[in-house]
Amino acid sequence: MATVYAVGVGPGDPELLTRKAERVLRSVDVILAPVSNPSEASVALSTIREFINEERQEIIIHQFPMTSDKARLIPAWQEAAALIAAHAEAGRSVAFITIGDPLFYSTFIYLLRLLREQWPLVPIEIIPGISSINAAAAQAALPLVEGDEKMVVIPATAGIEVINAALDTYETVVLLKVKPLFSAIIELLRSTGKEQSTVFVERVGSSRQKVLTDFNEIAAHSPDYLSLLIIK
Ligand SMILES: C[S@@+](CC[C@H](N)C(=O)[O-])C[C@H]1O[C@@H](n2cnc3c(N)ncnc32)[C@H](O)[C@@H]1O
Repeated sequence: MATVYAVGVGPGDPELLTRKAERVLRSVDVILAPVSNPSEASVALSTIREFINEERQEIIIHQFPMTSDKARLIPAWQEAAALIAAHAEAGRSVAFITIGDPLFYSTFIYLLRLLREQWPLVPIEIIPGISSINAAAAQAALPLVEGDEKMVVIPATAGIEVINAALDTYETVVLLKVKPLFSAIIELLRSTGKEQSTVFVERVGSSRQKVLTDFNEIAAHSPDYLSLLIIK
């Protein structure tokens, strides 16, 4: 039985991989890269290209639809878990690669549950990665929290009411998945006087990275999926 690794590859910069992640990626037999749209490249896979050998290692691109519809997601998770388990049982080590950290809003969390329930003998090792939040704060040179301060991370899809309540309660609010509600979030930040204390970060760690601190520029921008807001 070979080991299944969940490897956090960080936000997109190959230099932000840990040495352990690099060692595991160079050694495994199979690499499974998630994509939400088959016509788009896997960000995780592009991040690790330089560490892998496509002649010796099998690369599998697996599609996980970008939806909250469990009827579409569960079969994709089940199929991926079965594929991973089959390789491990046949003695081939597998790395499931994930952007940022594998236990932080990652598809791997669902696979981990299925693997533990249905293939309890498959050994699993998790290699943490630098999350987009830490990488974004570093690029903006923005302290996330200090002393007794408290921080909350909210997928913006939770809704404007949840975000509004958080702005009242925490010294730092980090919003992920901001794209779908971007205009409503901008309105909320204006009406709560957060214009001067908001930082927008998109595609951190990549050549398309954008760090915006000017609120008018943030408001005029049309964000892509890989973007977040840090509000102090
Ligand atoms: C499903 S979560 C994945 C989080 C990831 N596991 C991590 O540790 O950063 C996806 C959200 O993370 C944020 N994100 C991930 N990578 C990013 C990047 N390179 N730049 C900016 N935000 C990013 C975006 O808010 C995106 O909508």
